Amino acid sequence: GSTLKAAAEANGRYFGTALSDGDLGVGGETAVVGAQFDALTPTNEMKWETVEPAPGSYDFGPGDQLVQFARAHGMRVRGHNLVWQNQLPGWMSNLPLNQVRSAMEAHITAEAGHYKGQVYAWDVINEPFNGDGSLVPDAFYRAMGPDYLADALRTAHAADPGAKLYINDYNIEGVNAKSDALYSLARSLLAQGVPLGGIGFESHFVVGQVPTDLRANLQRFADLGLDVAVTELDDRIQLPASGGALQQQAADYAAVVRACLAVSRCVGVSQWGVDDAHSWIPGTFPGYGAATMYDDNDRPKPAFAATLSAL
Ligand code: XIL
Repeated sequence: GSTLKAAAEANGRYFGTALSDGDLGVGGETAVVGAQFDALTPTNEMKWETVEPAPGSYDFGPGDQLVQFARAHGMRVRGHNLVWQNQLPGWMSNLPLNQVRSAMEAHITAEAGHYKGQVYAWDVINEPFNGDGSLVPDAFYRAMGPDYLADALRTAHAADPGAKLYINDYNIEGVNAKSDALYSLARSLLAQGVPLGGIGFESHFVVGQVPTDLRANLQRFADLGLDVAVTELDDRIQLPASGGALQQQAADYAAVVRACLAVSRCVGVSQWGVDDAHSWIPGTFPGYGAATMYDDNDRPKPAFAATLSAL
C-alpha cells in the first residue's frame, strides 16, 4: 500500500497515532492523520485530571471531540488511560487511603461506561512498575496493595465488556527486570481469571537503541494468550539531527514494524504524536527531538519510507 494504514491493514494490523484535541484545528497535522493512520490515542484528554477534575464531576468533552474525529476518519480509538499515578487531579492525590478504592472504581465505571462501545482497547493500568520490577507505591498501591490491578481490570470489564483491556508500560520492550516482573504479573492475573487482554509496549526509544530482543519479548507475552501492541512509538535523536541519525531512525522504525509483524498477536503499532513539531520529546528530554516519522512541516522523513516498506 501507499499509506501506513493501507499497508498495515493488508497485514491485518492497524497503524495509529496520538493526537491532542488542541491540534484538531491544525491543518497539516490533521491531514496527515486522516490520510495515514487508522487508530487514534488521545494524548491527554482521557486522563484523570481532564476527565474528573473534581470528585464525581466529569468532563468528557475533549475526549469526545477526539472520538468524533476518529469516527469521521474511520479510525479505531485506544482509550488512554484509566489508572495512573501521573496527571491525577489534586483532590485524588490527596485522598485519604480508605477512599481510594471507591474513587478508583467510580472513575473507571464512569469513564469506561461513557465510552462503552466506542473504544477498541483501554490502557486500564498505565506504568505500574518501577525499573527494578517492583510496583510503584502510588496511592492505588498504598491503598490496596497489588490487588488494585485485578480490581481495576474487573471494574473496567464490567463497564465495557467489549473493550480489550491493557496494561501499558515503558522500558519493557526488551527482556529485563521490569518486563520479567510484568510477565509474572500477567501470568498470575490470567491464572486468576482477571480480564487482562493485552500488553502495551510504549516504545519510547533512543535512536540506535531498539532492543534486539523486542520480537522475542513480544512473543513471550503473546504466548500467554494476550494481544500485544506497540502503543507510543517514537525514536529520539540528539539535536541537531544528523543525516546519519535520521537513517538510523529509519532502520529503527523498520525494525519495530518487523518485530510486530513477526508476532501474530501483535495487533498494531501507534506512534506518539504525529510530527516532530507536536511531539512530547523536546519538552521532556531537553536537547532531544526529531522523534517521529514526520518533520516540523509534516513532510515524511526517512523513517516514513522505511516503515512503509517494512509493512
Ligand atoms: C505525555 C503527553 O504526551 C504530554 O503531553 C503530557 O504532558 C505528559 O504525558 N507515557 C504515557 C503518555 O503513557 O501518557 C505520556 O504522554 C508519555 C509517556
